[in-house]
Amino acid sequence: MKIQFTEREEKAFRKISEAAMQLGLPCYLIGGFVRDKILGRPTKDADFVCVGDALELATLAAKAFKPHPKVSLYKNFGTAHFRLSDGFDLEFVGARKESYQRHSRKPDVEPGTVEDDQKRRDFTINALAVSLNKEDYGNFVDPFNGLDDLKQGLIRTPLDPDQTFSDDPLRMMRAIRFACQLKFRIYPETFHAIKRNKDRIKIISQERITDELNKIILSEMPSIGFKLLYDTELLHIIFPQMIELAGAEFIEGKGHKDNFYHTLQVLDNVAERSDNLWLRWAAILHDIAKPATKRFEEGHGWTFHGHEVVGGRMVPKIFNQLKLPLGEQMKYVRKLVELHLRPISLTKENITDSAVRRLLFDAGEDFDDLMKLCESDITSKNRYKVNRYLQNFELVRERCKEVEENDKIRTWQPPITGEIIMQTFGLRPSKPVGIIKDAIKDAILDGQIPNNYEAAFAYMLQKGEECGLRANESGVRRQETGEAETSAE
Ligand code: CTP
Repeated sequence: MKIQFTEREEKAFRKISEAAMQLGLPCYLIGGFVRDKILGRPTKDADFVCVGDALELATLAAKAFKPHPKVSLYKNFGTAHFRLSDGFDLEFVGARKESYQRHSRKPDVEPGTVEDDQKRRDFTINALAVSLNKEDYGNFVDPFNGLDDLKQGLIRTPLDPDQTFSDDPLRMMRAIRFACQLKFRIYPETFHAIKRNKDRIKIISQERITDELNKIILSEMPSIGFKLLYDTELLHIIFPQMIELAGAEFIEGKGHKDNFYHTLQVLDNVAERSDNLWLRWAAILHDIAKPATKRFEEGHGWTFHGHEVVGGRMVPKIFNQLKLPLGEQMKYVRKLVELHLRPISLTKENITDSAVRRLLFDAGEDFDDLMKLCESDITSKNRYKVNRYLQNFELVRERCKEVEENDKIRTWQPPITGEIIMQTFGLRPSKPVGIIKDAIKDAILDGQIPNNYEAAFAYMLQKGEECGLRANESGVRRQETGEAETSAE
C-alpha cells in the first residue's frame, strides 16, 4: 500500500525531498497528516522529521518555492515552519530521543534516529512515517504497527503507556479525543494506564485540557468521548459537576432517570442538529442543577424545581473554572439553560399570545437555537411519545412564527429606555429604574397597553407615581412637545 498525495502535495514533498538529499539528511512525513491521509479525512498542516538539523533543511527547502516563504526558526525547540502561498503549513523537526529525569518534568533532548523520534510520540497511529528519501520515496516506516492500528481502529501507545502518559499527561485527553473523533477503540492496556495515571492531568494547564474537551464536544458523537472520560475517571477531576448527574436514586420504588446519560443523549441529539459549540455546551449544562434541586415529594415523586434558574447561575462559575470565554458565549449558554423549560410550557392548551410574545422577547435572536435544544431534550425510548412531543414543538414553532410576523418581538425593544425614565424622574441608575422599565415591557407584552411611545410614557408616569416618584417638569414638557420621541427609538 502506498499513500496517495494530491498533485500540489506531491510537488511540495518532492522539493523538500530534494533539499534533504542535498544536505544528506534523511527526511520523513509524520504525524497527523499521514494518519488523516490514510483515513481519507481532510488534512491540514504537514509535519516532517529529519535526522539532523531541521532549521537548515527548512531554510534550504523554502528557497525552492516561488514566492519564497518566510521561514520561522525556533532554535530553542529545534523546529522550523513556513507556509506556502496557498496556505499549506509545513513544520520541520529534527529527530530526537528524550530521556526524562526522574525528578524533573523537563526532558533532556538529544538527537536521535527516526525510530527514536517515533517512539516518543503519543500513539502508534500518529507515529507512522512516510519516507521522502530517494531510495524508498513513499514507503511507510512503521516500526510500531501504526498501519494495522489504523485499520483496526485502535488507539495504542508506541511505548509502555505509563511512560507515554507520564511524559505528557495531556495525551490521556488526546487518546479519548482521537477515540471520539475517529470512532476508534482505546487498546485495553492504554485504557488502564489512563485510569492509573489520571491524577497526572492536574499538572496540565486548564486551557489545554479545555481545548481537548471542546474538540470532543465538536465531534460527530460527543457522548463517546464523555463516556470514556467518565470510565477512566478523568471527568471526575476535570469536570466534577457533571459526575453529580450520574446515577438514579429510588424511593418507594420510584426512580428518576440517570441525568448523566440523559445529558449525553441530549448532547448527541444537538450535535445532529448543529455544529455550534456553545449550543452543545448548553446541552451539557441544561440539567446541571438537577442534583442540587432534587427532592422526593410524598405521593408525587421526584422533582427538580427551579433547576433551570439554579443551573443558569452555575454557568458563569463553570465557565470560569474551565477557562471558557466569559463574554457573549457564556451569556448565550446561561440564557438557553434558563429558558430550556419554557417552550414545553407553551405546548399546553389555551396558551395566550402574551405568553408566546414573552418567550420570543426573552429568547430574542436565539429562539431557533432554544427550540433545537428543547427538541433534543426529548430522549424517551418510546417512538410514539417522541413523535407526539416533536409535533407539539412544531405547533409551538408555528404559533411563535405567527406572533412574530405580527409583532416582530425577537428584535423588539420597549419604546421607553432607562435613560428616559432617569431623565423624567431625575433618577440615577438604580433599582426603581429597572422596576419601571420591566413594568412597561410586561404591560406591552401582555397587551395591557399598546406598543407605542405615548402609551408607554403615560404608563411610566403612572408606575412612577405608584413608586412614590415625581416626574420633573422638563420630563413632562418634553413628552408634551413629543421631543423625547427621537431619543426613544
Ligand atoms: N504529539 C505527541 N504528543 C502530544 C502532541 C502531539 O506525541 N501531546 C505528536 C503526534 O505524533 C502528533 C504530532 O505530534 O501527530 C502533531 O501534533 P498535533 O498537531 O497536536 O496533532 P495532530 O496529530 O496533527 O492532530 P490534530 O491536528 O487533530 O490535533
